[in-house]
Amino acid sequence: MNVKASAASAVTWMGNWLIVPVSETALLNTHLESLDAETGGLFTRLREAGDLPTKSGSLLPIKGVTGLGVSRVLLLGLGTPEQPTTQGLDRALTAAFRSLSDKPNLDVGLLVPPAAVLGSKSAAEFIAAAVAAGAIGSSGQDLYRTERTRHPFAALHVLASDNYSAAIERGTILGESINLTRELVNRPAQDVNPVTVADRCSSLAAEYGLACEIFDVPRLEAERMHSLLAVAKGSTVPARMVKLDYRGAPGNANHVAFVGKGVTFDSGGLSLKPTDGMVTMKCDMAGAATVLGAIVAIARLKLPVNVTAYLGLVENMVSGDCYKLGDILTARNGVTIEVLNTDAEGRLVLADVLSYAVDQGAEKIIDLATLTGACVVALGEDVAGLFTNHDAWSGQVAQSAKTVGEDLWPLPTWDSYDELIKSDVGDIKNTGGRWGGAITAAKFLQKFVGGKPWVHLDIAGPAFASSAKPWREAGATGYGVRTLVQLAESSAE
Ligand code: BES
Ligand code: MN
Ligand code: ZN
Repeated sequence: MNVKASAASAVTWMGNWLIVPVSETALLNTHLESLDAETGGLFTRLREAGDLPTKSGSLLPIKGVTGLGVSRVLLLGLGTPEQPTTQGLDRALTAAFRSLSDKPNLDVGLLVPPAAVLGSKSAAEFIAAAVAAGAIGSSGQDLYRTERTRHPFAALHVLASDNYSAAIERGTILGESINLTRELVNRPAQDVNPVTVADRCSSLAAEYGLACEIFDVPRLEAERMHSLLAVAKGSTVPARMVKLDYRGAPGNANHVAFVGKGVTFDSGGLSLKPTDGMVTMKCDMAGAATVLGAIVAIARLKLPVNVTAYLGLVENMVSGDCYKLGDILTARNGVTIEVLNTDAEGRLVLADVLSYAVDQGAEKIIDLATLTGACVVALGEDVAGLFTNHDAWSGQVAQSAKTVGEDLWPLPTWDSYDELIKSDVGDIKNTGGRWGGAITAAKFLQKFVGGKPWVHLDIAGPAFASSAKPWREAGATGYGVRTLVQLAESSAE
């Protein structure tokens, strides 16, 4: 996104729209005084009529304003100064930019409100959040429409006299990385498959200085990744695993592995999904797209950490070659798996990728996966499930998510659940039956992390939105990118 810092005052700045944040606490809105004076008391009249949109995220577009450099002002409520929580601020700002992005080529100005309005947030935090929101709110899921409904701005002008170039840079990187994840998830499986995702990884790696290794089928066979390969067998598109390395700290200090489920289309295989369940299954590579977006952001931010991202990429299809119910797979670590449902494929892919990451010396692991419908039943569409074998590591993940305003909630991983995935003919089976489905999936994954500190985030709900909200487009959300970036930042401390 084109972002410009401008020292112009909000009174004289000229462009298409001026966004003016307002606090619920009238007294704090000192930034309105000069605007009020030049517009003949417009803002006083609005306040007296009770029409200032002060609630967090509420909007009031005003056209035909006279006395300012602009004729259109968008008032944006931020709530009380205690309220601008990270999530509230992100949502309010995204709603504002989203509401303006239905017209092409706009120059949008942003007034940075005084400290009293921002409460615990600094101006730099506000600006970074706004720039990210501008990028996210102005791009949508209409990549294939002949008439777009969202348009990038000609420029976002940040009206501030101090130098906020670092905040602008940070917001740009976060917004663009989240949009990268969203774009990959929103593009359909005809364009996004294991081979095209791997190609995209290698060009991004070249652009941002990451080491990139792509594992083709012979290499995956050599690495004994027969569980992952079994899932891919039914597709005409071959499997890939991508390893992306970012080294920002000396040696191998604090090596964190990000692992993502990248099922570029999940038909269910022979345990075929019905149409209603299959229709959004291009989203089943959201975990992989999220770890990719995050490692690109971490590299661009030059964080002092070492991160390796692993993307397990397959298409789960039906054919004469596809894997079958009753098959017994031998995973990379030697564990044998009885296949009772070919639609429980994500865990089969992650099994081998997780054990590969362990063998590569990962000290801590986090995986993200659109793994189970059961997790959406348990927690709803907007909350990820968190599963772990390590309280300190999961505490750090939960704190990171909280800091950036992404909702997640823990579910138990007690050993008693292991009973449910014991197999009569192999070591484990790939479904645990009807009850506790999100947990038995996590317990399955745990068999492949070799006792290393591990967190699994089931993002089947929040990765892909079934409906639009004022603050977000329907479709891919980019959920998880912010948490992973924050996790890397907190690991560096
Ligand atoms: N990709 C699905 C899970 C999913 C469901 C993601 C809804 C996003 C939205 C996964 O591969 C799957 O099919 N899981 C099965 C597991 C079952 C067969 C044990 C499920 O949740 O029904
Ligand atoms: Mn499935
Ligand atoms: Zn799946």
